[in-house]
Amino acid sequence: MTTVNTEKLSSARFAEATDAFVEEFTASVGFDQRMAQQDIQGSLAHAAMLCKIGILTEQELADIQRGLGQIGAEIARGEFVWSIKQEDVHMNIEARLTDLIGIAGKKLHTGRSRNDQVATDIRLYLRSDIGAIMVQLKRLQLALLDVAEREADTIMPGFTHLQVAQPVTFGHHLMAWFEMLCRDQERLQDCLKRLNVMPLGAAALAGTSYPIDRYMTAELLDFSRPSNNSLDSVSDRDFAIEFAAAGSLIMMHLSRFSEELVLWASAQFDFIDIPDAFCTGSSIMPQKKNPDVPELVRGKSGRVVGHLMSLLMLMKSQPLAYNKDNQEDKEPLFDTADTLINCLRAFADMMPHVKAKRENMYNSAKRGFATATDLADYLVRKGMAFRDAHEVVGLAVRLGLDSGRDLSELALGELQGFSPAIGADVFDILKLEGSVAARNHIGGTAPAQVRKAIAAARLQVGV
Ligand code: ARG
Repeated sequence: MTTVNTEKLSSARFAEATDAFVEEFTASVGFDQRMAQQDIQGSLAHAAMLCKIGILTEQELADIQRGLGQIGAEIARGEFVWSIKQEDVHMNIEARLTDLIGIAGKKLHTGRSRNDQVATDIRLYLRSDIGAIMVQLKRLQLALLDVAEREADTIMPGFTHLQVAQPVTFGHHLMAWFEMLCRDQERLQDCLKRLNVMPLGAAALAGTSYPIDRYMTAELLDFSRPSNNSLDSVSDRDFAIEFAAAGSLIMMHLSRFSEELVLWASAQFDFIDIPDAFCTGSSIMPQKKNPDVPELVRGKSGRVVGHLMSLLMLMKSQPLAYNKDNQEDKEPLFDTADTLINCLRAFADMMPHVKAKRENMYNSAKRGFATATDLADYLVRKGMAFRDAHEVVGLAVRLGLDSGRDLSELALGELQGFSPAIGADVFDILKLEGSVAARNHIGGTAPAQVRKAIAAARLQVGV
């Protein structure tokens, strides 16, 4: 059975009780209880260090370990009773510990403050969430590689200004998405480097008068090192801002993928089929199948960018060192991490089942004079200046438009009317297959290059 301790820990200095509304208003336990396991982890390391430097006896350490173990289990089972009177996750756990083990529980807070404690907890929490985000991100990358491999030869129109520009392969298009995610992964990795530095020992702001061993605590908690400056350690949340910025870029990328999927799934494009499991119907229009997953992901990008703005504004103009403002860092951070994990997961689950409608993609590329540049390049190879070639092709496109035909459907004689340099071999390059195959250099859209890019990517991500 858990008990609720209704005593306020820091009340001795106060002549009056806290106003009931203020108590509720200032409490963070409603949301920071999510960091309970990290709080316990941090306390276990701190206690082990206090024992090593002689502040806790072996017996007291054993009691603390047992008590925290029990509390961790109570929380995991959902039996722990959280109290607003204890304000936050840190004081709730400490109060319960003292209930359970008595005096040793009251010694745990020696040489630390909630300021370095919370700065530690949130780093531990974020470190593990970034791990979970990277798992989903990698799943999505793998899904993209598989689909790209399947669609390496699939021809579709490539767009600029959302107007048909040149033919590309669908595999190449998907590999563009893959590249964006590679940079996202690197940004998270980079964010981890600066996040993984340990604040514990900074205490309230100035450090502590006990002979603490910060290297020991850092090692126990798997931080790369203790932080260099106590004031900085308890105050800055730049690591959280970096994370939200990296997260915003991920969501910006996902919103772009989403937008394309939504467009492609429309009857007007009709390039892909999104399986029923990832769509819903309309409550009024029986014919509708809506691409809800990409739409929702596109929409959720807004809240993550919003969180980035919140965190930037939260930190702006804050004097050193800790200020209560910082309590406001958690909700945007938690929501950013949740949103990223869920959106990446939804995409990773959905992508392998997105079906390319190859014929529609092909026909659409054919309709847009997508090989006009190829004809210009052909004329250049025959000795014409590019600007003149551009002009000649413009005339050929006009004829195609007027007669409702693609360039490859014009007769050789008609084409030769624009330039005698044109020979029968022109039809090789006017075909979509010839156009994409010709772009056979690193970074190009030729199926051979796409396959090479996929193989290199598999080596890079290790699958
Ligand atoms: N709940 C607080 C937070 O999230 C913990 C630190 C409180 N420190 C203090 N000096 N009031 O920031």
